[in-house]
Amino acid sequence: MNILEATDVSVTFESYGQQIKAVDHVNFELPRGQTIGIVGESGSGKSTFARVLAGLQLPTNGSVSYLDKPIQSGKQTYRGALRKEVQMVFQDPYGSLNPRMKIVRAVAEAIAQHQALNKKESIEAALELLRSMGISGDDAYKYPRSLSGGQRQRASVARALSAQPSVLIADEPTSAIDQSAQSQLLGLFNNLINDGLSIVLVSHDLSVIRYLSDYVYVMKDGVFVESGKTEAIFDDPKEEYTQKLIASIPGRIL
Ligand SMILES: Nc1ncnc2c1ncn2[C@@H]1O[C@H](COP(=O)(O)OP(=O)(O)OP(=O)(O)O)[C@@H](O)[C@H]1O
Ligand SMILES: [Mg+2]
Repeated sequence: MNILEATDVSVTFESYGQQIKAVDHVNFELPRGQTIGIVGESGSGKSTFARVLAGLQLPTNGSVSYLDKPIQSGKQTYRGALRKEVQMVFQDPYGSLNPRMKIVRAVAEAIAQHQALNKKESIEAALELLRSMGISGDDAYKYPRSLSGGQRQRASVARALSAQPSVLIADEPTSAIDQSAQSQLLGLFNNLINDGLSIVLVSHDLSVIRYLSDYVYVMKDGVFVESGKTEAIFDDPKEEYTQKLIASIPGRIL
C-alpha cells in the first residue's frame, strides 16, 4: 500500500486576471519506507505540488490519500492524527522557524505538542535531537538568524522530525548550503531512510536526488514528463528535458 498517493492533482493560481497552471493533472505514489525524488527546473511546480502532498495547499482538482484515506474533505485538510504524520520542511527554512524563538524552544514546543512530555523533558529531548543533527547546546540557544544556513536547514528538519512523522516532505533541504554542510545533511537523511521514514525529496540538485532516492519524478510545466527508478532515470533518460537536466549537473564530465 502507498503511504501517500496523489490522483489527478491540479493547482491553478489566479494572478492579475491570468490563470497559472502550476500543477496540471498529475499522479504520484509514495510507497512506505521509500524515498521519492521530484526534480525539475525552477517554476516547474515542485513546491506547489509538495504543499498539496503535505495538505497545506488545496488542489483545484484531484485528491491526495494517506494510507488510502483522502486527506481532504471539502475545504478541510489533514485533521487529527494526520497533522502529525506528514511533516514538511520548507524551501525557505525561515518558513518553518519562528524568527523570534530560539531554536531549542521552537523544537521543544513542537515536541511538547506531539509527545506527552513536560516542559523540562521536551527541552531535553529538543537538545538531544538537535545534537544528533550536529547542532551543539550553545547553537541550540541561538535565534534562527544567528545560525549558519546549513544549521538553519538542519534545525528546520529537526523541527519537522519532532512530531515523529511517518512521512517527511523536504523541499530543497540542501539548497543554499556549502559542500560540508550538505554532506552532513545527506548523512542525516541516510539515517532517516535507514530508520524507515518515507520521504519525498524535492530538489533541483540532481546529485542529491540520485544519492538518496529510490524513484524519481521529473517535472516540467506542472506535469511529470518522466518517472522511473533512479538508475533508469539517470542511466537511460528518455526525455530530452531529463537529459538536459542531467547534463547540467555541476562537475559532470560529458
Ligand atoms: N501563490 C501563488 N500565486 C501565483 N502563482 C504562484 C503561486 N505560487 C506559485 N506560483 C507559480 O506557480 C509556478 C510553480 O511554482 P513553484 O514554486 O511550485 O515552482 P518550483 O518548481 O518549486 O520552483 P523553484 O525550483 O524555483 O523552487 C510558478 O510559475 C510560480 O510563479
Ligand atoms: Mg520550489
